[in-house]
Amino acid sequence: MVELQNVSVTYAGGVDALNNVSLKINDGDFAFVVGSSGAGKSTMIKLLLKEIDATSGVVTVNGYNLSKLKKRKIPEFRRTLGFVFQDFRLIPSMTVYENIAFVLRVLDAPLKYIRKRVPYVISLVGLHAKTNSYPDELSGGEKQRVAIARALVNDPQLIIADEPTGNIDPELSYEIVELLKGINDQGTTILMVTHEHDLVRHFGGRIINITNGEIVYDEVVTGTNSEILPEVELAQAMENAARQNHNYPMPESDMYDNSTPYVDDVIAAITSTAANQGGAEE
Ligand SMILES: Nc1ncnc2c1ncn2[C@@H]1O[C@H](COP(=O)(O)OP(=O)(O)OP(=O)(O)O)[C@@H](O)[C@H]1O
Ligand SMILES: [Mg+2]
Repeated sequence: MVELQNVSVTYAGGVDALNNVSLKINDGDFAFVVGSSGAGKSTMIKLLLKEIDATSGVVTVNGYNLSKLKKRKIPEFRRTLGFVFQDFRLIPSMTVYENIAFVLRVLDAPLKYIRKRVPYVISLVGLHAKTNSYPDELSGGEKQRVAIARALVNDPQLIIADEPTGNIDPELSYEIVELLKGINDQGTTILMVTHEHDLVRHFGGRIINITNGEIVYDEVVTGTNSEILPEVELAQAMENAARQNHNYPMPESDMYDNSTPYVDDVIAAITSTAANQGGAEE
């Protein structure tokens, strides 16, 4: 669950990026966040990841009041999230398998669990054949599938995607959203920022428009092409993948040492890699 109560963000220098925003996204929802460049979308995402703090108001994510969250509790909080970025942020020196396993390793998950869980999420995103490929051997759409598998591997309650289709071909964008929809069908809440109006029109659902730091529109609309969604196929693929892996243990929250600085390490590694690649950043 995500809740913003009268949230404002003013950056140093005086830019009011969000102005008294209130918003609630329930568990299991899928919501698109749209709005023009500079409207405040990424600012909202950064608030939800606790990369920045609200200047005023209350931000609650997955039961954590972020306005009051102590620094040492941030890693524990971020374990309840998965992130997908526009520029993929895969580590070039690691294979698909390693890019995903890395997240669980930082969490000190048992090796036996990693060996079951990683192939499972790779099969969910349809990349079994690319398990041992390196990122530069993959298409943009495939890279983003790896990033989605990485976001999923820790079984998060919420996946936050900031322009996940921004760097891939338009026709592949539909596949990425279909994949996210399929994941949402399994119960994961998804918040996706996008500039692509065609995509939003096609899929429909809850659409939140931020303009000049304010929510000017928040409605559920019917997609123009909802009847041709291959979600059924995807649900079937997920079920098949689950069946093949039916005997692996699900993570138990006490399996992890809460003092492990999980996401901070992962994000640091991912961010510096993106910088090395000269990856697109806003
Ligand atoms: N670190 C920062 N310091 C100062 N101002 C910032 C900072 N980050 C963003 N801004 C400003 O805050 C406003 C909102 O920016 P934000 O990145 O949230 O927009 P956005 O909706 O994500 O835009 P885009 O679609 O281009 O990614 C903009 O005016 C931007 O210039
Ligand atoms: Mg942005």
